[in-house]
Amino acid sequence: MKVLVTGGAGYIGSHVVDLMVNRGYDVVVFDNLYTGHAEAVHKDALFVKGDLLDKPAVDKLFDEHDFSGILHFASHTLVGESMQLPWLYLRDNAVAASNLLEAAARKSVKRFILSSTANLFDAPEVIPITAEERIVPGSPYGESKFFVERYLHWMERIYGMAYCCLRYFNASGAHPLGHIGEDHTPEYHLIPIILQVALGQREKLTIFGDDYPTPDGTCIRDYIHVIDLAEAHVLAFEALADGKSRKYNLGNGKGYSIQQVIQMARDITGHSIPATAGPRRAGDPATLIADSTRIQKELGWQPEFGDLHQIIQTAWNWHQSHPHGYASK
Ligand SMILES: NC(=O)c1ccc[n+]([C@@H]2O[C@H](COP(=O)([O-])OP(=O)(O)OC[C@H]3O[C@@H](n4cnc5c(N)ncnc54)[C@H](O)[C@@H]3O)[C@@H](O)[C@H]2O)c1
Repeated sequence: MKVLVTGGAGYIGSHVVDLMVNRGYDVVVFDNLYTGHAEAVHKDALFVKGDLLDKPAVDKLFDEHDFSGILHFASHTLVGESMQLPWLYLRDNAVAASNLLEAAARKSVKRFILSSTANLFDAPEVIPITAEERIVPGSPYGESKFFVERYLHWMERIYGMAYCCLRYFNASGAHPLGHIGEDHTPEYHLIPIILQVALGQREKLTIFGDDYPTPDGTCIRDYIHVIDLAEAHVLAFEALADGKSRKYNLGNGKGYSIQQVIQMARDITGHSIPATAGPRRAGDPATLIADSTRIQKELGWQPEFGDLHQIIQTAWNWHQSHPHGYASK
């Protein structure tokens, strides 16, 4: 079965590609390498360098291949950046998805998986946050994902395209075999930044705000291992064979404050990891914890690396063996 993975050279996409190739899928990766790495793509996947904003390139890709389904990771991905450069999100993320969906509809592709986000839930009424929670995007980034979710609603109505929106909470960790992991330059995600301090690549960590209404004043997040995310994608992709669209929240249902994550990293790395508090960052809600009951019940998804220790340990193994990411080799 041939599938298209946009953004398959990126952090989460490369782990999903790795798993899908190992499960026997014929995978084509389309990625402009804006933040991704060709080295991250499994050698048995076909890598096509291209930009989703380039509509003729997208149309050519669909002329050359018949895809049974699409997993769409390619996107601008940063909440903070979206508060400074909203057009990268409200324009580019939307146009990229639109070019992709137009080509997919033309070729009658019937399965579509979207990387969506916890940033849809800026003002949750109940925590842990279920998939039924009302949607209040927390930033232009979240708004751009909500736009694509709504676009998919119409793709299903008009073209019968079954879709699954997977709203990830904080993706983290690395492949336990250590060959792929997180490599962003500059890095904006908490765990890799903490580990860069432990590696001596940064002097200290700045915490964005310690005056949130949480027990230690720092933001609480739900960290999900990238391998558990990858498994959820394969389950969701297979489930879409029944033609029914779905939306799932994906996390471990456990929240850790930034201070707790730093302490766990100190225990694992043996480094003191100095940290000081700075001002809050625009667009960050105090607490985000997922209720993933729906995907557990409907698809039997169970996290294998649900423990924060395993998440940080696998990330630490990756960062130690690849101190400069894919450029280390
Ligand atoms: N990392 C997280 O914690 C997290 C949480 C929620 C949702 N997500 C979503 O998951 C997806 C993957 O995130 P990630 O952390 O792996 O990010 P990433 O930056 O590592 O991966 C994104 C990939 O998309 C590619 N890309 C970007 N724009 C493109 C375009 N116009 N055309 C072709 N390729 C393009 C990049 O080169 C990169 O390889 C994103 O859609 C993101 O919004 C991530």
